[in-house]
Amino acid sequence: MTQIQMLYSKPEVGDSIDTVDTPALIIDLDIVDRNIEAMFANFKDKSVTIRPHLKTAKSPVFAKKLIEMGATGICVAKLAEAEVMAQNGVGDILITTEIIGKAKMEKLFDLLRDHPAIRLVVDSKAGVELLASSAKAFQHKEAIMVLIETNVGQNRAGIENPKDVVELANYIKTHSALTFIGVQGYEGHVQLLRDESERKNKSKESMERLGRIVSELKSAGIEVPVVTTGGTGTSPWCAENNFVTEVQPGSFIFMDTAYRNAGQKFEQALHLVATVISKPDAKRAVIDSGYKSLSTDSGAPEVANLAGLTYEPGGDEHGILKSSSGGDVALQIGDRVTITPSHIDTTINLHDFYYCHRNGKIEAILPIANRGKVQ
Ligand SMILES: Cc1ncc(COP(=O)(O)O)c(C=O)c1O
Repeated sequence: MTQIQMLYSKPEVGDSIDTVDTPALIIDLDIVDRNIEAMFANFKDKSVTIRPHLKTAKSPVFAKKLIEMGATGICVAKLAEAEVMAQNGVGDILITTEIIGKAKMEKLFDLLRDHPAIRLVVDSKAGVELLASSAKAFQHKEAIMVLIETNVGQNRAGIENPKDVVELANYIKTHSALTFIGVQGYEGHVQLLRDESERKNKSKESMERLGRIVSELKSAGIEVPVVTTGGTGTSPWCAENNFVTEVQPGSFIFMDTAYRNAGQKFEQALHLVATVISKPDAKRAVIDSGYKSLSTDSGAPEVANLAGLTYEPGGDEHGILKSSSGGDVALQIGDRVTITPSHIDTTINLHDFYYCHRNGKIEAILPIANRGKVQ
């Protein structure tokens, strides 16, 4: 039990979710179950495996739940996230971001020593050399599994030209410290496109690019056991391509308004509960949630439990609710308000705990173990 829980013992498991202090993230576990079942059902008759991205849920408890329900392993974005997952018994991890910098190498090889199933991505010779020389320096015995990150349209990290991917794969093969196991080609730029046919076409273009890369590798005599791609907005389409072996959706588990606006039918499992702390006039209610508890990088969060209200940030600690029609706001000081975040990844990263419930009764109070694990 953490010190915070010991000092303030309420609420407890079994209490009503209405007893939690605010602002707080609450999760409906029945909805989480339905969201996982709905996403996994897409792949039931397919050979593709599911490796969900835990950059969203940030909790080993949910990682284990996803594995119990059929995931082969998980993805995380950062080394520090992988450390927490591994310490909590989740060892089959793909870290989807390049690990660069001398400062990281000691931590990485500490982790790999006990968890050799961890997979890494590289997109440069410099990255390969750093891993190989560090493996030697830390006397690492097992070959490290690496995938090449490819650029299939997002124009973030990754190699675009198939011939350059082949060149890097061959370069990896000259280093006995590393084993080339495949490619990652995440099409992040299409996930939130609202027009479904545009999203589908752009995802198809990305898959064609990924397919060309896989063909080029195979023509060069290089085996490609793993081809990993896809997010919440595209994974079922990605899985239609027979060269894709694995999908990595993340947000579907809890959802947010950005994904709802992009047509995803998963349900909103996660909300923020806030309290009205001030009502300076009839047209404005002020709640205890601003930039420090609700992210706005994907637009304004929405009021879920009362129609016709808009949220705007009122600074770090305050949020301002107004009527969208310009009328009076029917809220009083002390009222509790339920908010649907616009972007869960960045909102969750602001909180210490999830208050998980079924039918309004608290079932678990979970530390958000990977909150702040950005290194
Ligand atoms: C590499 C990678 N894979 C998968 C995902 C999961 O995507 P989503 O949360 O859209 O399902 C992300 C999200 O940013 C990502 O960066």
